[in-house]
Amino acid sequence: MSIFARQKIPVDNLDINEKVFYLTLYKITVLLLTDVLKLSLKKGMNEINESCIVRHLDSVSFGSGGYMRNKVSRRAFVHKTAVGSAAVALVPTIVTSQTAKPALLGGVPVRTNRWPAWPEWRREWEAKVIDVMRSGRWWRGRGEHVADFEKAYADLIGAKRCLATASGTTALLVSMHVLGVDAGDEVIVSPFTFIATYNSILLSKALPVFADTDAATLTMDPKTIETKITDRTTAIMPVHIYGLPCDMDPINDIAKKHHLAVVEDACQAWLAEYKEKKCGTLGDLGCFSFQNSKHLPTGEGGAITGNDDLIMDRCHSFHNCGRAYGTSSGTTQYFMRGSNRRMQQMQAVMLMQQIVKLQEETARRQENAAYLMRALAEVPGIHPIRMPENSKAVWHLFPVRYDAKEFSGLPIDKFVKAIHAEGVPFGRGYHELYFDDLIDEAIQSRGYKRLFSEKRLKEYRESLSELKGNKQVCETTLAITQNLLLGEKKDMDDIVNALQKIQRHSAEVARA
Ligand SMILES: Cc1ncc(COP(=O)(O)O)c(C=O)c1O
Repeated sequence: MSIFARQKIPVDNLDINEKVFYLTLYKITVLLLTDVLKLSLKKGMNEINESCIVRHLDSVSFGSGGYMRNKVSRRAFVHKTAVGSAAVALVPTIVTSQTAKPALLGGVPVRTNRWPAWPEWRREWEAKVIDVMRSGRWWRGRGEHVADFEKAYADLIGAKRCLATASGTTALLVSMHVLGVDAGDEVIVSPFTFIATYNSILLSKALPVFADTDAATLTMDPKTIETKITDRTTAIMPVHIYGLPCDMDPINDIAKKHHLAVVEDACQAWLAEYKEKKCGTLGDLGCFSFQNSKHLPTGEGGAITGNDDLIMDRCHSFHNCGRAYGTSSGTTQYFMRGSNRRMQQMQAVMLMQQIVKLQEETARRQENAAYLMRALAEVPGIHPIRMPENSKAVWHLFPVRYDAKEFSGLPIDKFVKAIHAEGVPFGRGYHELYFDDLIDEAIQSRGYKRLFSEKRLKEYRESLSELKGNKQVCETTLAITQNLLLGEKKDMDDIVNALQKIQRHSAEVARA
């Protein structure tokens, strides 16, 4: 049956121009569909070589080519459009998005739909929050909600104890103080992190000494720790950045050998796992953040997890103005220095109600991340991150490493513009934060000059240029935020299609 018969076009009534037009279109459609069919059988639909489709579609030069140069009748135009659309409709969507011009150069974006919003509020949570507000028992000293949450979070993480705090930063500050980090000490830390990690050490009047970043894992490279240890070193602070677990066994071995405390910055790693244990239970203390963007958010909030009652009691005392708590006590009421780092009741109620959601969403992020990792293996120049053996990331961000060589030399910032234009918001990772002014501001301060020798501060400052792995990571890491991983499989396909589209058109984008 011919397309003419299907469209019920009375062939005999057509003029010569119309007949030539329809015959050409028919031939092109058959060629196109045969090619598409052959390729899809051979490679699968995801890998259809766009060039064959472009070649055929390009040859249909409506309105300008020889056979259409003559006047086109209204009837022929209507039929041309109908048959043309039918043929184009048979081309799979994935082809349209990949062959189209990059959106940055005026083409149609791969995606215009919104990504899942974050954070999410549910009406059914309101009643409990309002109960607390009406009760007037807003602080932890006069209510049970913070303690209830601490119990639930400790159970969730598999820790013996949990202490809720006002933020992740305060969780780090309390932990370091209690584990003995004092003025003039040194703490070995991951450089690839949010600035709060550095600040927590600087505010403890200690020196943040950076181990290098493993470019394959984005986390602390254990091989670079030991050379950084001095007689001032008191602790190691690995950071499970983006929810990627650090390789904790070698880090703990080094800490044990040199009698150092381990404070895990797990502020982005709720439910992440390393060798069947949750991050935050692998060192002496684990610190979490529940700030607005986090997977378990309450605006501001944090927690410390640990297994040692004596240490956890001291954390409780310190976070509560130095008041006695459990085994942590003295001969007077205020027996140790302390601060107010307490969580409020309303924050705890919000957190408590999101625990099941956190578990469900973590599973979804992990499933989508695994799907993306498989799909991205096929995109040249986009390298997924390697994780330590037997570990599970929770993807606060989903990072990849960008190799400009595979993108016709397209600079990473221009790549970011191009992929944003496609509706897929990949962003750059952290930059080399130690070259921001805060480190110089700290080490040039009166306090640091009193605490460290001039020689030590000079060699410390110079050593920042030796962090080659971290420099490479800062220059080449791209990431999307966790909320994108809450989408469906088709949303993940948009991410892959956008990357493929820019990769295929990278030379044009680089030239533009
Ligand atoms: C790695 C890391 N450490 C520490 C913090 C500090 O947490 P907070 O913002 O709750 O003080 C954050 C927060 O974003 C973080 O991402």
